[in-house]
Amino acid sequence: MPQLAAHIQSQPESGIRLITERAWSTPGAIVLSVGEPQFELAPHVTEAAIEAWRRGDVRYQANAGIPALKQAITATYERDYGVRVADEQVMVTAGAVQGMHLALSLVLGAGDEILIPDPGYTIFEMAPHLLQARSVRYPLLPENDFLPSVADIEALITPRTKAILLNSPSNPLGSVIPGPLVEEVYELARKHDLWLISDECYSAFTFGEPHVSPTTIDTDGRVFAVYSFSKTYGMTGVRLGWVITPPGMSHTLNAVQESTVSCINPPAQWAGVAALTGPQDYVTHARDFYEKAAAEAAAALAPRGFRFLTPSGAFYLWLDVSHLSKGDVHAWTLRFLDEAKVGLAPGSAFGPHGEGWVRISLAGDRAELLEALSRIPAPAD
Ligand SMILES: Cc1ncc(COP(=O)(O)O)c(C=O)c1O
Repeated sequence: MPQLAAHIQSQPESGIRLITERAWSTPGAIVLSVGEPQFELAPHVTEAAIEAWRRGDVRYQANAGIPALKQAITATYERDYGVRVADEQVMVTAGAVQGMHLALSLVLGAGDEILIPDPGYTIFEMAPHLLQARSVRYPLLPENDFLPSVADIEALITPRTKAILLNSPSNPLGSVIPGPLVEEVYELARKHDLWLISDECYSAFTFGEPHVSPTTIDTDGRVFAVYSFSKTYGMTGVRLGWVITPPGMSHTLNAVQESTVSCINPPAQWAGVAALTGPQDYVTHARDFYEKAAAEAAAALAPRGFRFLTPSGAFYLWLDVSHLSKGDVHAWTLRFLDEAKVGLAPGSAFGPHGEGWVRISLAGDRAELLEALSRIPAPAD
């Protein structure tokens, strides 16, 4: 057999998928390792997709998305941020993962470097690797409230650095980067003439600290912001998202889109139109549900002496299990799944700074969540 491409032979795997697929096939297991909303899809969203399919709206579409969805996106953006972006700055994508890949394809060549958060979402390492670029991790440390340090990021910049990646609210931490710090990172990108890639998939879910998008302060066109329908509307399998891009690059964006997915399937896009233009009480309800889950989980863990980060956004809780994992949290989560029938995402799947921690999804059934937490032995046990 011929050899696979050299860089593909070292393509990183997702440590979340690994444990989750094992947990899914473990009878009776409580699966908290995957970030997936449990809510039913809103009926008007389902109807819009079925209706599109029925009327035969199943042909090729514009690379960047159907006009109705692009308009709904720009209107949502204006409602949420008070800023009007041009139609040509919107690219509809097959989820945020493809949106991230699209943005990175425009700014990273082979051997280029991108600064990514550690711990950070698995795709932040996997997508640059596919482009033969190098991800360099900047630390998010407990002593700095798990927030990025501009000095730490700046120290990692080299002549090969092309971009800084920010993710707020954070997967896996549930932290939200305050507005002034977002501005500082933007200024750093400007100082070194770097791109800023902003993953804002969880922007709908914050519990106090407001979400600030660097696109709203981007005066010189260096920010790509990646969004998703997956989490906000509970449409993970539909594969729908979008990117707000700097102006003046729609030609290139279309060419890259053409050579990967060509366009996004129209019924999914009509579902997106219905989601954005229909009632938003589903989103508010989900946000309240996650905030309550975070509070209940914190109330269950704190008296038992656990160290954890109470989330201010997204739907994850970041828990220190170093008293159990003894230097190999990946191995411990596998053992814990076998013994306690609970699937947790090992922190090391999100980068070396995640060693000794686990990410717990708060998005599922509350009773199951609390039962699962009660099975984790506390430091004082
Ligand atoms: C930070 C972050 N970005 C992107 C994604 C992927 O989203 P999508 O389903 O839209 O591809 C996820 C999913 O877990 C995520 O947590």
